[in-house]
Amino acid sequence: MEIKVNLATHLKEKPIDESKLGFGKIFTDHMLLMDYDIDTGWHNARIEPYDYLKIDPAAVCLHYGQEIFEGLKAYYGKDKGIYLFRVADNFKRLNASARRVCMPELDADFVIKALKKLILIEREWIPKTRGTSLYIRPTMIATEPFLGVRAATSYLFYIIIGPVGSYYPEGLNPVKIYVEDKYVRAVAGGTGEAKTGGNYAASLLAAAEAQKKGFTQVLWLDGCEKMWIEEVGAMNMFFVIDDEVITAPLTGSILGGITRDSVIKIVRDWGLKIREKSVSINDVLAAASNGELKEAFGTGTAAVISPVGQITYKDKDYIISNGKMGELSQKLYDEIVAIQYAEKEDPYGWTEKIG
Ligand code: PLP
Ligand code: COI
Repeated sequence: MEIKVNLATHLKEKPIDESKLGFGKIFTDHMLLMDYDIDTGWHNARIEPYDYLKIDPAAVCLHYGQEIFEGLKAYYGKDKGIYLFRVADNFKRLNASARRVCMPELDADFVIKALKKLILIEREWIPKTRGTSLYIRPTMIATEPFLGVRAATSYLFYIIIGPVGSYYPEGLNPVKIYVEDKYVRAVAGGTGEAKTGGNYAASLLAAAEAQKKGFTQVLWLDGCEKMWIEEVGAMNMFFVIDDEVITAPLTGSILGGITRDSVIKIVRDWGLKIREKSVSINDVLAAASNGELKEAFGTGTAAVISPVGQITYKDKDYIISNGKMGELSQKLYDEIVAIQYAEKEDPYGWTEKIG
C-alpha cells in the first residue's frame, strides 16, 4: 500500500525549553491515518497535517468504548541518530488488544514503515535532552455509526506523536502510592491485559480520590480477593524482597509491559534472582515492616523506571528505601536509558536506528 503525504503549509512553533515539556500536551505538525471497512480491509494510508477528526456522533467508539491504543517512544541518540525501542513488540501488543475487543488487526510491518516515515518528517520535533523523547501514540477507534451493541464494521487507525519529558511531575524522585482497597481495575477474563480505553476510565475515580489525599497513583489489587498485587495506573510493579526481585505474573488482568519484560531480562542477565510470582499486599507490608522490603519501583514506557518511596494501605504509611531511589532501581534506570539513547551497545537487539 502506498502512503500518501500531504504536508502542512503552516508549521507550529516548537517548544524551546525542553525541561518544561511535561507529558502528552504537545503534538507535532502531522499525523498518520488509515481507514478500514469490512469490504476493503485497511486502505488509504496517509500522512496529513495534524487536525481534528470528523466523526459521526453515533460512532461505536463514542458509545461502547471500542478503542485501543499503544505507547512507545523515539529517542535522540548520543550519535545524533533517531532510535526506536522494541517497536515490533508494541504493534504485536496492539494486535493482541485488537483481537480482545473485536477490532481488525494491522499489518505491523507496514504500519512500522509508515510510522518511521512520519517520524522522519517530524525529526526536528525530537527533543535532544536525556530524559526527553518523542512519544508515539498509535490509536484505533470504531467509526461505524450504529447504536446496536456489536463490533463495528469500520475503523480509523491513526498515530499522533509529540515531544515529552517525564511522566510524573516528581521526575525521578520517588512517588507515593495508595493501595486501593475499595475499587478494582480489572479481573482475570476481563480486558485488563488489553490496552483499551475502558480500563483507564475504570481507574480514574480511584486515582482522583488518591490524588486528593496527596498520592501520585494507586496500586491495584486483584479484583476478586483484593489481596494480590497487580499494577499501578500506567506501570507494572517490582518489589525487591530480601535478595529476590518479584513482579506479578501475567494472568490476564494486568498489562504485559514491554519495560517489564526488559527489566526481567536485564535483571536475569545480571545474575540476580527474579520471579514472576503473585505476592499479597500483606506479604509486602510485612516485608516493609521487618526491613526485608529493600526497594519498590514501577516500569513503563512513559514512566521508565519510577521508584516508589511510600505505600499507604488503610491509612498506614510504609516508607521504602528511606523514601529515596533504591540502588537496583537506579542501576536499571541507567541501563535502560543508556540502551534507549544508544549510549551503550544494545546486547538485546531492542533498539533500531531509523535515521
Ligand atoms: N500497565 C499499564 C496499565 C500501562 O498503561 C502501561 C503503559 O503502557 C504499563 C503497565 C507499562 O507498559 P509498557 O512498559 O509496555 O509501557
Ligand atoms: C505508556 O507508558 O506509554 C502508556 O501508555 C501509559 C499511558 C497510560 C500514559
